[in-house]
Parts: sequence; C-alpha cells; structure tokens
Amino acid sequence: MHILHVVGARPNFMKAAPVLAALKAGGHRQRQVHTGQHYDAKLSDAIFRDLRLPEPDINLGVGSGTHAQQTAQILVGMEKVLLESKPDLVLVYGDVNSTAAATIATAKLLIPVAHVEAGLRSRDRTMPEEINRLITDRLAAWLYTPSTDGDDNLRAEGVSPASIKFVGNVMIDTLQQLLPLTEPDTLLRSLGVMNGAGPAPFALVTLHRPSNVDAADSLTRLLGALSDIARDVPVIFPVHPRTSARVQAQGLLWGRITAIEPLTYLEFLTLQRRAAVVITDSGGIQEETTFLGIPCLTMRENTERPVTVTLGTNQLIGRDTELLKSETRAILSGRVKKGVIPPLWDGHAADRIAEHIATL
Ligand code: UD1
Repeated sequence: MHILHVVGARPNFMKAAPVLAALKAGGHRQRQVHTGQHYDAKLSDAIFRDLRLPEPDINLGVGSGTHAQQTAQILVGMEKVLLESKPDLVLVYGDVNSTAAATIATAKLLIPVAHVEAGLRSRDRTMPEEINRLITDRLAAWLYTPSTDGDDNLRAEGVSPASIKFVGNVMIDTLQQLLPLTEPDTLLRSLGVMNGAGPAPFALVTLHRPSNVDAADSLTRLLGALSDIARDVPVIFPVHPRTSARVQAQGLLWGRITAIEPLTYLEFLTLQRRAAVVITDSGGIQEETTFLGIPCLTMRENTERPVTVTLGTNQLIGRDTELLKSETRAILSGRVKKGVIPPLWDGHAADRIAEHIATL
C-alpha cells in the first residue's frame, strides 16, 4: 500500500515514529507530510532526531496563525499533496489542528483516513483539541483507540464497531523504546538537582494550554503558586513558546521557578522519570507519568484521558492553585497515589496497527 503519514505538532511525532517503524516490515510505500504547524527547532527538528524519525518527505510550511488560517492553509496544501501522490491510506495522529485539517482534505477526496489515538473525549468544547477529535473521528474510516473508554465514546456516537480497533497507546511504544537511552546524571547536574547522594527531589512543570496561559490572571496565579512550591523543592519548567510569549507580553516574573528552554524528547523523559511530581496541562504527559508511576497533578477541569485518573497516577486539580500547593506538599511528604498501567500500554500498539493495515 501507499501510506501517507501526516504530522504537524510536537505531540504527533512520538506517536508517528513507532507506526512508521512497524509498517516498514510490511513493504509498504510510506511517505511523511509535516504540515509545519510547529517549526521551531526545539519543537520539531530536535524531537525528530531523538525519535530517529526520517526527515519528512514534504513540509507544507504553514506556520502559526489563527485556527482558521492554520486549518485553511493545511487544507489547501494537503489537497495538492493528495491529488499528486494519490495514497491508498492516510494516517493522522492525536488531536492538533494538523490532524483535523488533514482529515478533512483527505475525506473530501474519498481517501480512507486512519486515526491513531481515536475516541478520546473531554466533553469540553472550549478546548480546540476536542473539536479536532470530533471532526477527525467522524470522518476517519479506521479508529485506533488507546484505551477502551475511546471505544465506548465512539460506539455511543454511532460509529460502527467494525471501524474501531483497540490497539493500545503508541506513545508508550516510543517511551519504552527510548527509556534506556536516557542519561539522567549530566542533565540533572546541570539543573542543580543532583547532589553527592544522587538525584534530589524536584517538581517538573509544563503549562501551555490557552485556558491556563492566555489570560493574565490565571497565568499570574499559576506562576505565583509554582514560585511558592519552589520554596520547598526546585521547580523546573521547560517553557513552551506560547507560554513564554505570554509571560513576556504581560511582564510577569518567574520568581523562584527555574524556567528553561523547551527540551528534546529524551531530555524531557530523563527529567520525567526522576521527578518527585509532575505538574502539567498536557495530554500526553498525563499518560507518560501513569506509565512511569510518577505522581501527576493536572491543571485542568477535565481530561480526555480518564484512565490516567481511574487507573493511573493522575489527579485533576482544575484551576485551584491552593489545592495544587497542598497536593504537591502531600506528595513530597510521601502521600503518593499508586497506579497501575492501563491495558495494552505494552509497547506493541504500533504492531497491532500494522497487523490491521496488513488486512486491508
Ligand atoms: C499545539 C496543539 C496542542 C498541543 C501543543 C503541543 C492545536 C490546536 N494545539 O498547541 O494541542 O498540546 O501544540 O505543543 O493544534 N509557536 C512557536 N514556535 C512553533 C510553534 C508555535 O513559537 O514552532 C508559538 C506561536 O506563537 C504560536 C503559538 O506558539 O502562535 C501557538 O502554536 P500552535 O501550534 O497554534 O498551538 P500550540 O499552543 O503549540
């Protein structure tokens, strides 16, 4: 088969890497389109290198813009690519604007779309990702789910059960493969969280959701709470460009927080596996911490990844910065939520996708 993979933003890359690798054995013709939604070296090239992802065959170079601008440019760019290359199947990943836009362009040309990470729902349409998930799953021919709540959601929306394939979590395939390559000592030492006796406890933070960082009051409260937490434990915060732009524009201060540039995949994994607690609003990090057994406090009212709460180590904190401080203190004093690894987060999700594609 001629298979086209479409990626665009940082969280797509670690999902596509194992699928490209697993499909290699099937002798398919595979090509990769990068929409260019993320273009900074730290958000794209550096991650490609860590993941050993082949260079994209095509880069649409759409860059940043409003949702409509970004979506429209991807639609136009993808239509051209699809008309020229006429793939048999298009694989899309996750829930970013690139995912939904590529799906619309492909479905309009009656080419089947397979969605990797289908069925997740937060039921919160204020998040752009929820709209992207709904569009993508509505139009996709094949829906590969990471957890059985995804199957339930899709069936409840009327998707034919024959289209839904519970394959497990491809992000965990990547994590398992690359975990042995992490080298904690150098990075931890350079960040000052390594002493003579070994790694010292630290909190690791990522925040980039518009709901947390776009409004000055919510960002100010979050930075204040993190700076308070940094009285007890070092707080390391690799800052997403969206967040650093907001901090600068609003003239906010980092206080005691150790704010650093975005990290590569391996660097972030290195910190994640050694963190005493992770504070985040990311989707994927809720899953990675659950797999690693690291406590995770999520600064969101809801999650499209409920198994990380019901089975894993994740706790939803919402916007309550007092709760964030008290839960962090509880974790640091040893009151840690124990979790289990959800079914089929076993390092073979991409193999199951490849097996299914072989039957098409
Ligand atoms: C996007 C995804 C989000 C995902 C996140 C991971 C959507 C709607 N959002 O959010 O689901 O969790 O990626 O990182 O698709 N920017 C740069 N350099 C870049 C890319 C972006 O500086 O390489 C800045 C620009 O100011 C841009 C802003 O970040 O306007 C937002 O970028 P965008 O791709 O629209 O959304 P993210 O916040 O990155």
